[in-house]
Amino acid sequence: MAQHIQGTEDLFGGYMRAWQHMQDVARDLFGAYGFDMIETPAIEQVSTFVHGIGESTDVVRKEMFRVFSGALMERLLQSGSESSLKAKQRLALRPEGTAGVVRAAVENNLVPQGGAPVKVWYAEAMFRGERPQKGRLRQFHQVGVEWLGASDPASDAECIIMLMEFYRRVGFDPSKLTLRINSMGDANCRPAYRQKVRQFILDHKDEMCEDCLERAEINPLRSFDCKNDHCRQVMAGAPLVTDNLCDDCREHYAKVKQYLDEAGISYIEDPTLVRGLDYYMRTVFEVEVEGSGVGAIGGGGRYDGLMELEGGKPTPGLGFAVGFERMYLALQELGVDLAGQEPPCVYVACTPEERDEVFSATLALRQAGVRAEADYQGRSLKSQFKQADKHHACLCVVLGPDEVAAGKATLRDMSTHEQVQVPLSELVNQVCERVSQKH
Ligand code: HAM
Repeated sequence: MAQHIQGTEDLFGGYMRAWQHMQDVARDLFGAYGFDMIETPAIEQVSTFVHGIGESTDVVRKEMFRVFSGALMERLLQSGSESSLKAKQRLALRPEGTAGVVRAAVENNLVPQGGAPVKVWYAEAMFRGERPQKGRLRQFHQVGVEWLGASDPASDAECIIMLMEFYRRVGFDPSKLTLRINSMGDANCRPAYRQKVRQFILDHKDEMCEDCLERAEINPLRSFDCKNDHCRQVMAGAPLVTDNLCDDCREHYAKVKQYLDEAGISYIEDPTLVRGLDYYMRTVFEVEVEGSGVGAIGGGGRYDGLMELEGGKPTPGLGFAVGFERMYLALQELGVDLAGQEPPCVYVACTPEERDEVFSATLALRQAGVRAEADYQGRSLKSQFKQADKHHACLCVVLGPDEVAAGKATLRDMSTHEQVQVPLSELVNQVCERVSQKH
């Protein structure tokens, strides 16, 4: 039997309804904040991700799924080296949404100089070659937003407020969520801070793991996130970014916190929060569910230098993304049923002789917007009623020989089992009225 790839999932039934529910919440909420939907291709040139996410990040170095056509793969195998491929032929599946959106904004001039900011949201599959485990998949789904052209700290605060409202609307009790925030400084103050952290790691090199020693050279701040407990204990003594911010960054961070306080959003300041993508500067944030082992259910921050890295004019930007699968797991642990029921339907039951009448009636009901089911396997009436229950039908329309001869249909309420007869000419109206009463 063919099998799915480990770390990928099939979305159907209640799981799919939950994913759609999250998209519905996002459409309503983000729409109210002025965000329009965008979809960028699932494959991009590798350089789009390398420029944006950063060459030294795990996401780019280890986790990107590379894409080759069969013909290119043959060439690659013959030449034995990727250098035979042009940049345009080096493709990857998107590991996250921000780099592609920013690439699209540059290419389509979505933020013209002096023009209004662009605000977009997306709901897409992302791909990362990580070791699969609970809440960590190779293909997963994110709902995310990107806000390009806004530099005011009020936009950072609004993004976070919108994110926390999103969690509340999908079913989280806000008291169970932990929001951590930090400022990572900017091009002005971060280089000196990075250098201090690098020196700290080198001063403690006997106590740090191999990975951290490598990080000291390429990305020292990532050592705050090392999986090794001992490294993290040592890093607890490292210089903190918040003690090393320039005046502008400190002021920006203070304003963000002031707005969050004003909006009644609780947060924890965590000066060791560094995030795994290199494009961030100034505000960063992450959300976890208390006592849950699924990891962060969302995160984001400001990335003012990213438009330039993707070849555009200097333009500030910020955003966040939430992981659907992790939110689903966390909500399940909290006992929130996100899957819900299938929407109510109407079942049209018949005997084989009345097939044609049922065909017309079902068609008319569907054209009027009613979710209608019928039997296509020649089942007995009794077994069709069972099917109707399985489909959670609220109403059954029975078209037997007596009904058809009298130009009528029997309507059976599936919860009370009450039955009434209505003229066939009124069937659609009567069904619509009864279904709307059920909602
Ligand atoms: P990220 O923190 O890498 O940020 O991912 C956002 C969320 O996606 C995570 O908090 C988690 O819920 C989910 N996620 C990440 N990796 C996996 C995985 N392997 N399996 C399941 N879920 C996962 C970003 O992707 C940024 N682009 C967010 C952003 C948008 N920043 C600014 N704008």
